[in-house]
Amino acid sequence: MKKTLMLVLGIALGISTIYSSAQADTIESLRGSNLLGNQSNEVLFKPVQRDRAPIARDYVQQPPLVPHDIEGYTINLNFNKCMSCHSWKNYIQAKATKISQTHFSDRQENVLANVSTRRYFCTQCHVPQADAKPLIENEFKPVESIR
Ligand code: HEC
Ligand code: HEC
Repeated sequence: MKKTLMLVLGIALGISTIYSSAQADTIESLRGSNLLGNQSNEVLFKPVQRDRAPIARDYVQQPPLVPHDIEGYTINLNFNKCMSCHSWKNYIQAKATKISQTHFSDRQENVLANVSTRRYFCTQCHVPQADAKPLIENEFKPVESIR
């Protein structure tokens, strides 16, 4: 009984080894051989940039990038830290940009009195930045109209 089990396990292991090494040979991403796993945590987790001026947008309808640290900024059912500076009520005092009119419309285009639920979780669209080189070279340029 024990022997059969060992045999089955052995075969399964053998097959999976062959399978995974075959895969490693054939699949190559755009990043080539510079795989994430080969990089140290220092490279993988760069510190988020501190407060700075707003970052230029690259295309129309781009959610602007967050030009400041957001560590510890809670967004949950009862509280939205971002709104304590970016709401229409608070933005002047906080010297922050007010959320745009678009953030008040629901899916049916009804304009609401407060931020729409589909815009409530700000970090779904707005993300802070780290000073990191592109993982692969690219020739992306902002659209002509906003360059
Ligand atoms: C303590 C106040 C404060 C809080 C809290 C805050 N922000 Fe800001 N935010 C600012 C200020 C000030 C600016 C910069 C405005 C400027 O310099 O024009 C800014 C800029 C931004 C911008 C850039 C706007 C643009 O036009 O480029 C985005 C996006 C943004 N914040 C998103 C967020 C999000 C998302 C959160 C919550 C996770 C958040 N902020 C929380 C104060 C705050
Ligand atoms: C579903 C994606 C999405 C979510 C969620 C979202 N935003 Fe935006 N936001 C955008 C886009 C796209 C723009 C640029 C176009 C526009 O103004 O609608 C924008 C613009 C902004 C601007 C710049 C306004 C200006 O006048 O230039 C601020 C500030 C901002 N958002 C803050 C927030 C905050 C704070 C939250 C959370 C309460 C939030 N956003 C949630 C997509 C989103």
